[in-house]
Amino acid sequence: MRIFVTGASGWIGSAVVPELIGAGHQVLGLARSDASAAAIAAMGAEVLRGDLNNLDSLSVGAARSDGVIHLAFIHDFSQLEASINADARAIETMGAALEGSGKPLVIASGTPALPGNVATERDTPAPGGPLAGRGTNARTALGMAAHGVRSSIVRLPRTVHGKGDRHGFIAVMIDIARKQGVSGYVGDGSNRWPAVHVLDAAHLFRLAIEQAPAGSVLHAIGDEGVPVGDIASVIGRHLKMTTASFPPEHFGFLGAILAIDQPASSVHTRELLGWQPIQPGLVADLDKGHYFA
Ligand SMILES: NC(=O)c1ccc[n+]([C@@H]2O[C@H](COP(=O)([O-])OP(=O)(O)OC[C@H]3O[C@@H](n4cnc5c(N)ncnc54)[C@H](OP(=O)(O)O)[C@@H]3O)[C@@H](O)[C@H]2O)c1
Repeated sequence: MRIFVTGASGWIGSAVVPELIGAGHQVLGLARSDASAAAIAAMGAEVLRGDLNNLDSLSVGAARSDGVIHLAFIHDFSQLEASINADARAIETMGAALEGSGKPLVIASGTPALPGNVATERDTPAPGGPLAGRGTNARTALGMAAHGVRSSIVRLPRTVHGKGDRHGFIAVMIDIARKQGVSGYVGDGSNRWPAVHVLDAAHLFRLAIEQAPAGSVLHAIGDEGVPVGDIASVIGRHLKMTTASFPPEHFGFLGAILAIDQPASSVHTRELLGWQPIQPGLVADLDKGHYFA
């Protein structure tokens, strides 16, 4: 297949593109800068210059492909509503370009947080909260299944880890520990944090574009829930620091997220697509040391 990938130059995109090319697909990657274009070309993909805010470029990319994987997102948390609105317009535009074709559209989303419960593919995100709009965008994509698009969503956990992760939440936790001289967690440390290795996530995006039935909700979950206190312990061990509990404010924007128990499972995804995470789990990956080099 020839697959249009938005966000091809990003953290997850940089794993998805080689995964697709390695399986014999061609990739057309959206690039908004020379640097992103060079990174996409270096992976062996064709480049389409454009932007999430340039809807024509998204239409062209989708129309020139056999399917779309949408990973781009404007991660400016100071203007989250604008980012979510841009995401909505992008999904609607690419969905319209694929309408009636039966071609796949796979978009990235996040697992729901259901404190005290393990979120499954059958759960829907609770209404409200700053990220509710992303759930709405995911529903928009799934609704395109009724219009001849083989749409599916891949819900990612809070942490997509691996070598080279420089800005994910685990990297932020490590950065805060380095600055404060102590490795922190929230509450008693028992809140569970779901995770997946970036290479396992990339494999799931490939299976989704190849096989996911229209309207599928998929969970890219390797670790169902690692207690935040265990994450703090392994960080403390590598940085040779003690661990301690702090109020959420200690962690800036991350605090509110660390304070929520939010395990998630991928049982249905594994059954549906035969996906099996094979990479190290979060603690084992942290123990490899590359986050601390
Ligand atoms: N990483 C995680 O732990 C995680 C967890 C849950 C959900 N997700 C979701 O998974 C998706 C991919 O995440 P990621 O970690 O790979 O993100 P990332 O590393 O921040 O990459 C974002 C991608 O979007 C592109 N982009 C940003 N603004 C754009 C614009 N205006 N026009 C076109 N492209 C634009 C970036 O291009 P440039 O290279 O030019 O900047 C980059 O390729 C996102 O939807 C994210 O919210 C990620």
